[in-house]
Amino acid sequence: MTTSSLNILVVQGTIREGRNSIHPARYVTAQFREKGHDVELFDMKNYDIPLFRNQRNAVDYPHPGVDEFGQKVEAAQALVIVAPEYNHSIPGTLKNLLDHLYPEYEDTAFSYVTVSAGGFGGVRALSHLHDITLEFNAHPGPDLPVSNVHDAFDEDGTLIDKTYEDRFEEFVEQVVEHAEQFVPSTVSTTPETSV
Ligand SMILES: Cc1cc2nc3c(=O)[nH]c(=O)nc-3n(C[C@H](O)[C@H](O)[C@H](O)COP(=O)(O)O)c2cc1C
Repeated sequence: MTTSSLNILVVQGTIREGRNSIHPARYVTAQFREKGHDVELFDMKNYDIPLFRNQRNAVDYPHPGVDEFGQKVEAAQALVIVAPEYNHSIPGTLKNLLDHLYPEYEDTAFSYVTVSAGGFGGVRALSHLHDITLEFNAHPGPDLPVSNVHDAFDEDGTLIDKTYEDRFEEFVEQVVEHAEQFVPSTVSTTPETSV
């Protein structure tokens, strides 16, 4: 099945000052947009997400930032998590954000861009993201580990390691292919002729 345009939410995983992972997050968002998808980068820096106390669906008046995140997740056909590796896992801020929701993730296609300053591309964060996605009853999908992020992107966010051009392009295609498996197919609206 081929869907012409998907609703994709890219989730930036850290609010650290001087974060480098924002560069691949912006880059991949632009790639999806260029391919004609309806894509948004969710940057929690702009939402003042509170420390987790209870899930969005369990409270009468969820925090507006959490509620907005929940609505965006519900509308998305694919979630792309961009996460640097912090202390062999994902950033606490990302785990806190993700924990605010639960039913909203069900059956959603997940993909991952993990980031490290060294040569391992954040693969331990990736493994944790897989486990988290399975707990959500969602669908773990393709990944793109970005190693040596300081050499891959310059300070302005320009991709300088050109070997990543093809890798991002391939990743974007894989994300779409993965997500399309879980998008309900269009039902024909042609009325049946009764005899
Ligand atoms: C708190 C912290 C913990 C880190 N732990 C790891 C780690 O366990 N493994 C690793 O490969 N890199 C680790 N790093 C390096 C980061 O992966 C690297 O700095 C990357 O650029 C972080 O993404 P950011 O710039 O978006 O914060 C750590 C960095 C920070 C700030």
